[in-house]
Amino acid sequence: MKTAITEMCGIEHPIIQGGMHFVGFAELAAAVSNAGGLGTITGLTQRSAADLANEIARCKDMTDKPFAVNLTFLPTLNPPDYPAYVKAIIEGGVTVVETAGRNPAEVLPYLKDAGIKVIHKCTSVRHALKAQSIGCDAVSVDGFECGGHPGEDDIPNMILLPRAADELEIPFVSSGGQADGRSLVASLAMGAEGMNMGTRFIATVEAPVHQNVKDAIVAASELDTSLVMRPLRNTERVLNNAAVTRLLEKEKALGDKIKFEDIVDEVAGVYPRIMLEGEMDIGVWSCGMVAGLINDIPTCEELINRIMSEADTIINDRLARFQAA
Ligand SMILES: Cc1cc2nc3c(=O)[nH]c(=O)nc-3n(C[C@H](O)[C@H](O)[C@H](O)COP(=O)(O)O)c2cc1C
Repeated sequence: MKTAITEMCGIEHPIIQGGMHFVGFAELAAAVSNAGGLGTITGLTQRSAADLANEIARCKDMTDKPFAVNLTFLPTLNPPDYPAYVKAIIEGGVTVVETAGRNPAEVLPYLKDAGIKVIHKCTSVRHALKAQSIGCDAVSVDGFECGGHPGEDDIPNMILLPRAADELEIPFVSSGGQADGRSLVASLAMGAEGMNMGTRFIATVEAPVHQNVKDAIVAASELDTSLVMRPLRNTERVLNNAAVTRLLEKEKALGDKIKFEDIVDEVAGVYPRIMLEGEMDIGVWSCGMVAGLINDIPTCEELINRIMSEADTIINDRLARFQAA
């Protein structure tokens, strides 16, 4: 399938794997790219720019296809050394960067000068327009259903995507709630040039996370996520577990007075133990409502081929039938 995104990124299928903390290692990024999509290494999962350079090199050993690096701008008092991470990305020969968190104005000139395509992930039309105005090449429009940080506007993709299509001139991909051929065709129908998936790619053979994480996603339904940290205006969609219950009890008890320090045990530094050790209840971790559509653990190639063949059948069989009638 040829779209503005496949052309821009030099990929075969319009399917992107979004950056995911302690999931987006070289193994997953390479598997997605080898299957014809765009895999993404999560920059800040690497503790230093040197570690990121090494992860990029490992990915290049596993694929000769294009892949991306995610650069997330966190709301923190001690920001990581972003210029050093950007240098590692440029020197590593990476061709696409996914930015997220806030607009990437501070790093954009360096990435653009190096010829890197920048896809900014954002959760509202106004943020997408801002990304367009500062020179991003594309945006990833993340609806309220998404795993991770949906922002504070709570607009689901059925509204957000056509709104983005009405306003934007640069291409965009859908993100949040995407899982299969139906998602892809619906995204294209609403004006997107492809789709970005997070949660779906965790439940794959190559995702280098503990089996417990994959099993938890397969077992979950669309009713099994919650929004946490809303009172801190840092809302995150996570899979329900004991830590989420504890955190929500604290939110209820402390109300507006809640501070980050009150929930540090549930949220800070928990990803390695969950994703790598499979300790499923020790903290909160991002997961989308789309878990309700995930029932197996295929390889990335099986998943992407299945999505493309489902999309083909929907377009050429189901939709064509309506038109012929
Ligand atoms: C476990 C997990 C970790 C994530 N970590 C990040 C991250 O570090 N940076 C980022 O920009 N997005 C992150 N995301 C968001 C994904 O890149 C993607 O936008 C989101 O998962 C899309 O929604 P979906 O899960 O419904 O597909 C994460 C998502 C998950 C599920």
